[in-house]
Amino acid sequence: MCGIVGYIGKKNCSSFLLDALEKLEYRGYDSAGIAVYNDHKINLIKKKGRISVLRNAVEEDENFDTDDSPFKVGIAHTRWATHGKPSDVNAHPFIGPSGKIAILHNGIIENYIELKKSLKRRNVKFASQTDSEVACALIDTLYDGDFFKAVKDAVNLLEGAFSLCIICADYPNMMIGVKKDTPLIVGYGENENYIASDISAFIGKTKKFCRLGECEIALFKDDSVNFYDFNGKKIKKDVITVDWNIKSSSKDGFDCFTMKEIMEQPSAVRDTITPHIKNSGIDIPELNSLPDDINKIYIVACGSAYHVGALVKYSFEKIAKITTIVDLASEFRYRSPVIDEHTLVIIISQSGETADSLAALRESKNRGAKTLAVVNVVGSSIAAEADYVIYTWAGPEIGVATTKALSAQLSIMYLVVLYISKKRGVISDLAMKKYIQNLLTLPDYILQMLECKDKVFEISKRYMDRDNIFFIGRGIDYAVCREGSLKFKELSYLHSEAYAAGELKHGTISLVEDGTLVIAVLTDKKLFEKTLSNICEVQARGASCFAVVREDKVSEFDVGVDDIITIPKVPSIFLPSLSVIPLQFFAYYSALLHERDIDKPRNLAKSVTVE
Ligand code: AGP
Repeated sequence: MCGIVGYIGKKNCSSFLLDALEKLEYRGYDSAGIAVYNDHKINLIKKKGRISVLRNAVEEDENFDTDDSPFKVGIAHTRWATHGKPSDVNAHPFIGPSGKIAILHNGIIENYIELKKSLKRRNVKFASQTDSEVACALIDTLYDGDFFKAVKDAVNLLEGAFSLCIICADYPNMMIGVKKDTPLIVGYGENENYIASDISAFIGKTKKFCRLGECEIALFKDDSVNFYDFNGKKIKKDVITVDWNIKSSSKDGFDCFTMKEIMEQPSAVRDTITPHIKNSGIDIPELNSLPDDINKIYIVACGSAYHVGALVKYSFEKIAKITTIVDLASEFRYRSPVIDEHTLVIIISQSGETADSLAALRESKNRGAKTLAVVNVVGSSIAAEADYVIYTWAGPEIGVATTKALSAQLSIMYLVVLYISKKRGVISDLAMKKYIQNLLTLPDYILQMLECKDKVFEISKRYMDRDNIFFIGRGIDYAVCREGSLKFKELSYLHSEAYAAGELKHGTISLVEDGTLVIAVLTDKKLFEKTLSNICEVQARGASCFAVVREDKVSEFDVGVDDIITIPKVPSIFLPSLSVIPLQFFAYYSALLHERDIDKPRNLAKSVTVE
């Protein structure tokens, strides 16, 4: 999604803004732009392509950012195209017809067509195909010398999702931020303040933040920031401190963030579960007020977060003995889910800003359900609106393809399964104790699992030319295959399909032929023999096979597969945390061998904050 950064302070701001923008590159973008106040006017440069192209253009313009006012102000943006193709013209910032108002936008303005028609009737000309330019022209048209009033009046005419950052040539000491449905965060510096769509823009600059809430306005003036609702009423906001260190936003010697984050999974899991295990028991104070009469669980999320739900569904049913439904947020929000005050809806989200997941949360609350958010970004929108919040402590995840956050989400969900099981009185103290002991050793097993890295690299080399790839498994192994297939597709840009092993023979097996690669996951011991048969079925049709097998079942693995990766024997509830790792490495090395941009795969965004 688009990246927004804004600065107001005593320094000339273009280098700060460009550096902050680079910290948002991982979100995915196709063009970038910057606007700064300079000597009673706004200087603006915007370019299709990478931030480096924009930086060169700014550095070539020696008068771009030389203002000598006591306070300097500027805004910058990375665009992920929604309306209008990637181009210089469609890039942000936009400047209004008067030349006095410049804005950045993240989100989608749903009534931009009718607004554009009414503005055209007032002879406003448009250069781009974007909804954002319409918002800019609206503010500019309403501006009659009162900057704040023009913005306030305009945002009450906009419909849809929008985070805006606006500066005005008549107000060199002011900047305005507006938030509706897409994230916007204020950062507090020393005699300077910032605004951004993601706190990773400020890592190393400050640890003090304030997240704008729904339909709120931040007015920056000199070195102060005040907050208002869309009616102009002043509101009080809390400042939060996030102790993310700058180390977490650097590659630390790895070739890319994605590999670094795969290798950080043991610490991400350890940091996430440790605060919740005390005196050999589970401690989740965040859930202390959860009612006792929860009789159904919905787990709702997108992408890999959805796969976490699909994985732990088996444990909720098997251990907590509670009806558990897993749904895609983009589907859930438009269905008529049967939920009520006895339903717990768990929203899993790394960013805490995914539009579909946020909408599913709101829909759940409207229908009376209790809502729990499992998120990795402190104070994110989903965290702010859920009844209960449990944070994962994976640290900033920069690679677009999630890895360490997924492992941390899994570990939190294991804890929630055990917590709910105890609350429902369906787990013995002895069983609970054993699960907790095993959970505490999980980071060490994950660390051991990371040792398969080089072997998987060799396997990836052997199969790098295959273009017909299936991931097959049964039960919890099928859910792992779905995550493995997604990782493979999003990183390598090659097609694969996860398939329930028992379902292949009902049609899809017609696609299996010489050269087909089948990656089989067989960690569930009850289903081991059955998946073994499915491997034989595909081998009989010419497929090559790479299998992920529990070490205590390898001796029974009597079918000749080309490669086997073994995983340590841990309680079945925790197996996905281990079996997902060789699949992460396979996706990573397949992308590397095809020379993909691993941290920033094409077309993808780290947080999808639009529908
Ligand atoms: C995972 O590798 C993808 N980047 C994507 O599927 C992601 O999991 C999904 O967009 C949900 O994001 P969230 O966890 O921030 O809500």
